[in-house]
Amino acid sequence: MKETTPHEMAPRWVPSILAADFGHLAEQVRAVEAAGADRFQIDIMDGHFVPNLSMGPMFVGALRKLTRLPLEAHLMVERPEIWVGPVVDQGADIVIAHAEATPHLDRVVEQIAQAGRKPAVALNPATPWEEIELLLPRLSMVLLMTVNPGFGGQSFIPYVAEKIAALRAWLRTQKLALDIEVDGGIDAATLPLVSAAGANVFVAGTAVFGHARGAGQGLRELQAALREAKQA
Ligand code: DX5
Repeated sequence: MKETTPHEMAPRWVPSILAADFGHLAEQVRAVEAAGADRFQIDIMDGHFVPNLSMGPMFVGALRKLTRLPLEAHLMVERPEIWVGPVVDQGADIVIAHAEATPHLDRVVEQIAQAGRKPAVALNPATPWEEIELLLPRLSMVLLMTVNPGFGGQSFIPYVAEKIAALRAWLRTQKLALDIEVDGGIDAATLPLVSAAGANVFVAGTAVFGHARGAGQGLRELQAALREAKQA
């Protein structure tokens, strides 16, 4: 794990496909690529770990045909260990498993790494980051959910900002350059808060794909909001 230096925590933009218009997906993918997306997130939900059923591993494969950007599979599923193989086979570059979804999180992280992909762990809002302290040196990223997972378009949960700040502060003491990703209710209003707290990877669905003037404009407005916040 490299030492943290400011430039290593560059912002990364991750549109979440859950909010996309599937009838115009290729067009929207091109629009956010042109606007500077760094990768895409595919929200895989099983209707058990979260009260919603969304898309399966095949959707990773469908998106793989539309973009050369990296893909991250967000496994909002019970027993993530049975889904790592299928999303990797469909082309996922990063696989995110929820700490709350398996008693064998170390084994799932090892399974992702053994598959040659970047392992990441997601924490629901109420889960303390200390739960995964022992795993942090082996991860490429931690996803701190800023809503309760399962649906797009929810409101940001403010207390997660304190968790982001506490984790970033601890990582600095350990000289760990670990990406902190946030996901859920991230928009022009909440982005400055989570960035100031220490998050550097921003997932957005509604704020991008739900934008009245198109997904590209949605992403550009988020980038502008971050620039303005950093200049303030
Ligand atoms: C929620 C998902 C989020 C969602 C994006 O469970 O993990 O990625 O698609 O949320 P919004 O629309 O709030 O950006």
